[in-house]
Amino acid sequence: MKAPEVVTYALTVNGIRHRVQTEARKLLLDVLREDLGLAGPHAGCEHGVCGACTVLMNGRTVRSCLMFGVQAVDSRILTIEGVAKDGVLHPLQQEFSVHHALQCGFCTPGMILTALEFLGEHPDPTEVDVRDALSGNLCRCTGYDSIVDAVLAAGRRMREGRKAGV
Ligand code: FES
Ligand code: FES
Repeated sequence: MKAPEVVTYALTVNGIRHRVQTEARKLLLDVLREDLGLAGPHAGCEHGVCGACTVLMNGRTVRSCLMFGVQAVDSRILTIEGVAKDGVLHPLQQEFSVHHALQCGFCTPGMILTALEFLGEHPDPTEVDVRDALSGNLCRCTGYDSIVDAVLAAGRRMREGRKAGV
């Protein structure tokens, strides 16, 4: 049997440029987890349904289980590991904690990155908007109410921060 083709390419993840030497057929999810040691993107369904593997690519959510790592060359990837800045948790991360919006935490990175993109485009959402935005991210534990509350609270804080020029 022919050995899998190995390729070398550069990936920018959480603001850091990495050189990766790995199988050409490797999924972005597996490159992030196995080659870069980032455990935030989770492997759930591995066919695009659960949202646990969600990362941002150039500011847009993508399912890292549905694309190859080589497809992310020349793109900016953000995983949950890059969301806090200078040791300070993002308002979304803080509100997830305050509202007990996670139990096992398996869905949480994908939920937060999805909410991050969403709040960037919908700074003053309704509860229905939030539920709709998160409908592609599955949680087996929380019943969703606390997650929606956390996203709404983070949205309020982010709006207040913008008004205050923070
Ligand atoms: S692991 Fe990618 S969508 Fe479920
Ligand atoms: S907190 Fe367990 S899957 Fe969402």
